Amino acid sequence: MANKNSWFSGSVIYQIYPRSFYDTNNDGVGDLRGITQKLDYLAGSDGSLGVDAIWLSPFYESPMVDFGYDVADHCAIDPVFGTMADFSELIEKAHERGIRVILDFIPNHVSDQHEWFREARTSKSSPKRDWFVWRDPKNDGTPPSNWLSVFGGSAWEFDATSKQYYLHTFLKQQPDLNWDNPKVRGAMQDIMKFWLDKGADGFRVDSVCWLSKNAELQDDPTNHDFDPRTNSSYDSLDHIYSRDGTKLYPYLSELASVLDKYEDRVIVVEANPNLNKDKGYYLSFYNNVRPHVMAPFNFAVLNMPWDAKSVKHYIDAFQKGLSSDNNPIYVLSNHDKPRIVTRLGGNAARTAAVLLLTLPGSPFVYYGDEIGMENGVVIGSSALDPISGRETYTEAGRDPERTPMQWSDSANAGFSSVAPWLPIGKKYLQDNVLSEEDDESSMLSLYKRLISLRRGCEAIHHGRYVPFDVPEKDIFGFKRIVNDETIVVLLNFVAESRNVRIDGDILLSTCSNTSAGVLAPNEAQIIKLREM
Ligand code: NOJ
Repeated sequence: MANKNSWFSGSVIYQIYPRSFYDTNNDGVGDLRGITQKLDYLAGSDGSLGVDAIWLSPFYESPMVDFGYDVADHCAIDPVFGTMADFSELIEKAHERGIRVILDFIPNHVSDQHEWFREARTSKSSPKRDWFVWRDPKNDGTPPSNWLSVFGGSAWEFDATSKQYYLHTFLKQQPDLNWDNPKVRGAMQDIMKFWLDKGADGFRVDSVCWLSKNAELQDDPTNHDFDPRTNSSYDSLDHIYSRDGTKLYPYLSELASVLDKYEDRVIVVEANPNLNKDKGYYLSFYNNVRPHVMAPFNFAVLNMPWDAKSVKHYIDAFQKGLSSDNNPIYVLSNHDKPRIVTRLGGNAARTAAVLLLTLPGSPFVYYGDEIGMENGVVIGSSALDPISGRETYTEAGRDPERTPMQWSDSANAGFSSVAPWLPIGKKYLQDNVLSEEDDESSMLSLYKRLISLRRGCEAIHHGRYVPFDVPEKDIFGFKRIVNDETIVVLLNFVAESRNVRIDGDILLSTCSNTSAGVLAPNEAQIIKLREM
């Protein structure tokens, strides 16, 4: 993966949330055929966005309690998304256009409707019992440890039939698999092979930090920095026992080794540092898990204040920690977080696009961000996300960032001919693909110019990252260098203009009337230094 010649390094990956991309069978929910029909938008024809790959959030058979992150059958397509034939057609048509396809892979838990769990809960002597984590209650009947669910409450659910508790790091409908059982690990590897044989180019692997627990079931200690006004109850404990166990890297290495028999496949892992304290957390994956095929998302910038000094400080240090063949994967948005425009505002979102698409590695773009979609307005009482309204999660949970793609200004934003599963964003009449395609100043035009520049400019695509200090504290600058070509990226993080003199040619700016030496409010410039 990290090899400069492999397809992944330097690529732009576009995340599709299939329920919300395009509906072809008029049930208000997006489907696989919808993705196939929209491939030209993504790459392979004149005027396409130009991405290199897509990542599809889960489309497997599921009761959809957590919208597909509760898998009932890993090797079947949920009928709401289509059929296996639709999947094969999608792979074929994507590959024809040079688009690679990365699938979501959810190894930590399954749905409580999965046949493994249904079998396991029949009795203590079930052959599948040890595929999950079961423990007796304490003497007073309470759960075996104080471990918490990420989504609130205890991570243990009592099973009245066998009078034992089972562990669920997420919803009680998502029992954790027991990764210490080699049969579980073997079964999960078989599932990966199943999809690799069908042509998948890799996986985004969900929630890996919980694959290895420290098995003694010790109580996690109190987190003394916990603030109930800003933290969810999960953060009231310091999860030193319930996650990031000593077997995490060996288990991930085993998974990564499945790819050895295939060419050019990749794995990106989703791992969040305990209590959001990085302290080398992401870097340790590169040092421990076969970095030629596996790399972690980096969510640090997504989770920090939008402030030039903090972002520069973090990225300069992170890049310094990587070796030259490690591939960073920066993320500014996804299906679990508020949309960039909602978080930062429209102008800063343009600056953020430049940041994301000029940093090294393989940036992930969340569907709809390229047209500046905002969070949808979802009324709490009609929210569908199971965590809506819980604790510090907002009233509508994660529904607002999952609203349908806005294709045009026609009914239902051209997403479906019927009312969609989530409401269409309020600003769809202006923020939609069709209107933005003809508008040079639109967010979509900016993304297209950035992606095309990234591909055409070797320094941005594969060059070294070199920190660049500018005297203005609100400007984050860095260089990308290859051979004798140097690109300087300047990002103004504030809504006031700033003077920064660089001797070079402006290749791209977020503003239509840019001028050298001055960064307008929130302006970002990509400058090619003049050769001496
Ligand atoms: C992370 C996924 O991104 C999120 O959507 C899901 O709810 C949890 N993992 C549980 O699978």
